[in-house]
Amino acid sequence: MNDSRPIFPELQNDRLLRAARGEFVDRVPVWMMRQAGRYLPEYRKAREGHSFFETCRNPELVSEITIQPVRRFPIDAAIIFSDILVVPLAMGMQVDMIAGKGPVLPEPLSTPADLDRLVMPDVKDELGYVFRAIEKTRRDLNGRVPLIGFSGAPWTLMCYMVEGAGSKSFSKPRAWLYAEPQATDRLLEQLTDVIIEYLKGQIRAGAQYIQVFESWGGILGPEAFDRFEAPHLKRIATELKYAYPEIPLAVFPRGAHHALESLADSDYDVLSLDWTILPEEARTKAGLYVTLQGNLDPAVLYGPRDVIRENVRRMVQAFGTRRYIANLGHGMMSDHDPDKAQVFVEAVREFTSELQLSSSH
Ligand code: CP3
Repeated sequence: MNDSRPIFPELQNDRLLRAARGEFVDRVPVWMMRQAGRYLPEYRKAREGHSFFETCRNPELVSEITIQPVRRFPIDAAIIFSDILVVPLAMGMQVDMIAGKGPVLPEPLSTPADLDRLVMPDVKDELGYVFRAIEKTRRDLNGRVPLIGFSGAPWTLMCYMVEGAGSKSFSKPRAWLYAEPQATDRLLEQLTDVIIEYLKGQIRAGAQYIQVFESWGGILGPEAFDRFEAPHLKRIATELKYAYPEIPLAVFPRGAHHALESLADSDYDVLSLDWTILPEEARTKAGLYVTLQGNLDPAVLYGPRDVIRENVRRMVQAFGTRRYIANLGHGMMSDHDPDKAQVFVEAVREFTSELQLSSSH
């Protein structure tokens, strides 16, 4: 090996990793996207007096916030507290996280000439704070559950870097595809190089499972997705798999149902699904040799306990117990009630152990 990775306490719960590899599990593993966040009172307390990115740069705070949902819920994974926008930040862009509005990049890339403003960062220098937070969190987790590392996918990062903020249509980055295809290729390629180095650094620091968030994949048509983004998305998985074959790789191509077949035939081990696709349809597209993750509509958690349980029961029955990781189809929302997250997690545990029993008859 070309690296000396820190030694950590032995993992006591490896359901997530086993399910990602297609191995037998005693019950289906469960975690929630955005499981650490404002819907938790202990998160709001920990954030008091600290800006968003200041929090991300503080390993003690990151570890505390990452572990909060693990203390509260019987979940099978922790996901490192950070944000996908630390990458544009490391490439020299200004990113402001504005309460109630979300991220704003006041000086977005508006013409191809702006690409010259981007720096190719030394990830150890510019993103070392994420690596230090991962190492600290992994130590503090003490082997309870695996730690998930993550990055935004190139296109999703480009969306924010060109648009300058969140948007429903992201018309500016979409215009680049057709008005500035060469600059688009250059930007996506550069982002891919940074993302690969960044994720390798996360693995060396102790991340045990990697998820790539393609949250805006669905605004690309199938042809544009295949032409501009799929090769980069696949290269990320191929290069990580080559360097660290034991680390499961997940991708969340939100809204891009058309990409499931082709992504199933790549080095990703797990396809994370949003709630707009039926489990059976996703399985048909993805085939049998990839793990599916998801996909309860987060809005279900606004319903009463019985409704949540019924929706979870239908979901896990449709996915089955092999090659499946239960999750939401997108993140927890800030006005969710933590008790409803508890109902979700407990329902998965209850129904999937039952399924295991009945399927062994
Ligand atoms: O618990 C976890 O999942 C880990 C932490 C995490 C955050 N952001 C923390 C966060 C993760 C995995 C992300 C990923 C992320 N960030 C994505 C991909 C996943 C997705 O939701 O589609 C995207 C698109 C972003 C960009 C981003 N960051 C947006 C759009 C926002 C505003 C949304 C909001 O709810 O306000 C953020 C801010 C952000 N990132 C918050 C958190 C907890 C809320 C801000 C705060 O607490 O002050």
